[in-house]
Amino acid sequence: MSHQEAIKANIKAFAAADAYDSRECMQVLSMLAAKTIVTHDVSIIETQPSTTVYGNPEEFQSGISLENLIGKSEIKETFDGKKVMDFACGTGLVTEKLTHFLDNNKESTEIVGIDINQQFLNSFNEKATKLSNDKLTITSELCDILDPERQSEIDSKYGEQFDAIFCSVSYHHLEDYVRVTKKLVTFLKKGTGVLYILDFYNEDVEREASETSAVRHMGGLKVEALTKCFQSAGLGQLSIAKEFAVKTWQLGNFIENHCRQETIDRFNNGTLEKKSSSLGDVYSIEISVILAVGVRPKNDG
Ligand SMILES: C[S@@+](CC[C@H](N)C(=O)[O-])C[C@H]1O[C@@H](n2cnc3c(N)ncnc32)[C@H](O)[C@@H]1O
Repeated sequence: MSHQEAIKANIKAFAAADAYDSRECMQVLSMLAAKTIVTHDVSIIETQPSTTVYGNPEEFQSGISLENLIGKSEIKETFDGKKVMDFACGTGLVTEKLTHFLDNNKESTEIVGIDINQQFLNSFNEKATKLSNDKLTITSELCDILDPERQSEIDSKYGEQFDAIFCSVSYHHLEDYVRVTKKLVTFLKKGTGVLYILDFYNEDVEREASETSAVRHMGGLKVEALTKCFQSAGLGQLSIAKEFAVKTWQLGNFIENHCRQETIDRFNNGTLEKKSSSLGDVYSIEISVILAVGVRPKNDG
């Protein structure tokens, strides 16, 4: 599948922004993504996988808040006064959660959301309007950053502009995430800009998805693959390790496209715990998430 075909498959797969936001799993994951990003210390190189498992999805459903999830002393980076990109931002769930940590009495902060799906960006923009204030500007752009016809425009708009770029649970949807990473690195400020990639991680699955699926890398991305990708994009200070696992309720088609074989087998033979939801039957499974962090070096040409 080409990069363009993967984009078309993704636009088709993510049709309904409201349904996406109402999925308990996406709310839980975006909270944990925000927590993982703001509590990460860029000066520490993590190589050991974490054993943190967040249990009981009902706890999140019944309104566990970011305050309960993160102690103030754990916060290492709030992005106050910085220019940040939410790449493949979707409906803006992670941006929304991250703004929670900003001190709006301090310096001006700017967040730019990039996605290829206008429906999702409409929902991002609604959140942006509610969250923006005179110390916080949130904008978005419908953009394929690899579009050959827009390269000089994209370079002059985004090149070397960003203090941080984050991307949550989207890399496994990209056909060519190595090329995307190389492009994102050019958007970072030299010497200080940080790239944070969060994605699904299943130890025993590393196979290509079916030709029509929006998911391009079944089971997410591995430490080794992300390390090679970050190295080839010229990033330094690499910290790439499994961050956490979380128990959530998932639809059958998510399980078929993202989970390890043992879970898919249990789904197929009817032994996963099941309940009804507004979107149909959902099943209790554990998902692992990996965080890859790298810094753009000062002298990278
Ligand atoms: C699972 S959603 C994640 C959205 C958001 N980051 C979140 O955590 O809720 C995957 C997103 O990747 C976007 N996407 C897929 N391919 C893309 C590409 N080539 N460039 C930008 N966004 C892309 C999709 O449109 C979708 O919004």
